[in-house]
Amino acid sequence: MSTTYKSIGSSYNKKQGKVAFAAPSNIALVKYWGKRPVQLPENASLSFTLNVCRTETAIAYKKRAVSGNDFSITFLFEGAPKPSFVPKIHTFFERIAPYCLFLKDFEFIIDSKNTFPHSSGIASSASGMSALAMCLVEIECELGGLLSAVERKEKASFLARLGSGSACRSIEGPVTIWGKHQIINKSSNEFAVPFEGELHPIFRNYQDTVLLIDKGEKQVSSTVGHNLMYGHPFAKARFEQANANLEKLNAVLQNGDMDQFIEIVESEALTLHAMMMTSLPYFILMKSNTLEVINAIWNYRKASEIPVCFTLDAGANVHVLYPERHKKEVMEFINEELAEKCQNKQYICDNLGFGAKKL
Ligand code: DP6
Repeated sequence: MSTTYKSIGSSYNKKQGKVAFAAPSNIALVKYWGKRPVQLPENASLSFTLNVCRTETAIAYKKRAVSGNDFSITFLFEGAPKPSFVPKIHTFFERIAPYCLFLKDFEFIIDSKNTFPHSSGIASSASGMSALAMCLVEIECELGGLLSAVERKEKASFLARLGSGSACRSIEGPVTIWGKHQIINKSSNEFAVPFEGELHPIFRNYQDTVLLIDKGEKQVSSTVGHNLMYGHPFAKARFEQANANLEKLNAVLQNGDMDQFIEIVESEALTLHAMMMTSLPYFILMKSNTLEVINAIWNYRKASEIPVCFTLDAGANVHVLYPERHKKEVMEFINEELAEKCQNKQYICDNLGFGAKKL
């Protein structure tokens, strides 16, 4: 492992301080589904970093009189104590402790809030873990750790990955790639790297309207779903397909071929859900309104010739993706035909963003 991850031990520049970061969610176009210990992906994935759906996290840290054997963590959600979140953070701290040697020497008060509606069914782990990771790297630097700007982002992505795989793709934007891939320079299974090509103008400020089809708790968590890829009859072919799709999409993002873009993105979304339906035990996360929305998007695209397409995450919600220049017409379509298929007619208008920001 790179020395970038060396931590600084027990002599510190500061005894206390406070840092705060906002980090966005992201939506994968080439999906990560299947992993090996510890949090290493079976195939490379590529995502659009979002802008509106963000977590804002502040950490106040203070040197403990005596270093503890365990971590000292207080967690507040939207300003109110939320002890039920502490075990998750504790597990995260245990995983990252070898790379952040200061963790047991300080007490931490973590205060976090999301910009998207609570229980919207939107995964907050990507934005949450990446905001937390950015804060911890910042603390390490305040304490005396010497990391360049590039190393900070790399380390934050590395740490975020240990919290939740897809979180490592939220540190930077507008497009990031995680997982070793022969055509992507510096790509790694350990952290995400920014897409290095020149993004075709059609993708600039690309729109993602997230239709909240079902805001309930998922019946099967991503972690369980990933594990079902062990021994899955189609796993090997799926991992090869994802890497091939990434290579094609890498070219499409530069040449702006919308037919190919749509084909790759929609095929990836449906393949992800096909993997769920063909695992043992099998499960279905789409709802009937997910399918109705998909059919409505296909009909609209055919009739209007507007290059609007969909992707899905590990749930029933639909991400409607389209170029900014078609925003007006597509929003009319969403309001007239798709909103009624959302729970309480709710959707979130998001667009491409540029990653985590210091607050
Ligand atoms: C379908 O990153 O949530 O969204 O590593 O177990 O935390 P863990 O899983 P997670 O899986 C995300 C799966 C996905 C596809 C993707 O984002 O690439």
